[in-house]
Amino acid sequence: MNTVQSNIKKAKNYLDKNHCIAVPTETVYGLAGNAYSDFSVKKIFKLKKRPSNNPLIVHYYNLKALEHDCIINEDFKKLYNKFSPGPITYVLKLKKNSKISKFVTNNKNTVAIRFPKHPLLRRLLKVLSYPLAAPSANISSKLSSVQPSDVKEEFGRKLKYILKGGRCSIGVESTIINLTDNASILRLGGLSVSKIKKIIKKQILIKNKSKNKISPGLFSLHYSPGIPLRMNVKKPNKGEAFVLIKKRKINSKNYFFLSKNNNLIKAARNLYPLIRKIKNKGYKKIAVEKIPNIGIGQTINDRLERASKY
Ligand code: TXA
Ligand code: MG
Repeated sequence: MNTVQSNIKKAKNYLDKNHCIAVPTETVYGLAGNAYSDFSVKKIFKLKKRPSNNPLIVHYYNLKALEHDCIINEDFKKLYNKFSPGPITYVLKLKKNSKISKFVTNNKNTVAIRFPKHPLLRRLLKVLSYPLAAPSANISSKLSSVQPSDVKEEFGRKLKYILKGGRCSIGVESTIINLTDNASILRLGGLSVSKIKKIIKKQILIKNKSKNKISPGLFSLHYSPGIPLRMNVKKPNKGEAFVLIKKRKINSKNYFFLSKNNNLIKAARNLYPLIRKIKNKGYKKIAVEKIPNIGIGQTINDRLERASKY
């Protein structure tokens, strides 16, 4: 048995025994447990210190695995064929006889589901007899984890096992679309809204800031680095770490770059680790220059805005 096979086996053993483990996805690491087990799901909430009214995303291998749990519709099929597996989460209606634990959904009749693309997690999902409930692997309201060392920093020895799958290729969470009603975006994420619009060819409301929070996880304090952060800064104040979108010739030790040359995809990938690094260096404040609000830049600005609510 090679290392990958033996790690998958280890991960499966833990999950089969209702333990929680960390798993890699293409967006961020997840804190996973058996979505059909009340016991596992309750453990996830406890480890993460997550309020019980904030429902979890359920991760499936493919459509066949999903059939018993959710009611699918035309928009879902179109999007699934184009973007799954990938960084998009669908909110669908639950089937009456679904096996998903009521703690996943907080007793609601809708559920958020997604098909992650990371090859290691796909191999694991394929050998499990249940889907995985998995929120991002961080303590509630803190920065998400995009590499095994982040997960360790968040949970220390409280977590039994991390299935190590390197650094996440996208680095920000999935885009969440509600398909139980008129299509609407509940969270901006790794897949841009313009790409989604091209496929379902209709108006999509962006509700990520709406007062009536359908997604409780979108409470404004989120992705918090634990120190104040301000946006659209031209010049930093004394003592502030200054985050720039592209590399400059300035050689100040408090300057940090999200990408070499204004690449928003790379900037998204670097966002959480860079903020983590700045905090771990002992800075007490962060200033960020203006980030172009296009494509995944919209997601970066969304996360910064929430982080700035500290
Ligand atoms: O990329 C991702 O989506 C990562 C990886 C691990 O898959 N997961 C993730 O999970 O970001 P989490 O728990 O950090 O965020 C899930 C969001 C929360 O804001 C939650 O409120 C929302 O999804 N959500 C879950 N179920 C929902 C439902 N039935 N209706 C509306 N929003 C829902
Ligand atoms: Mg999260």
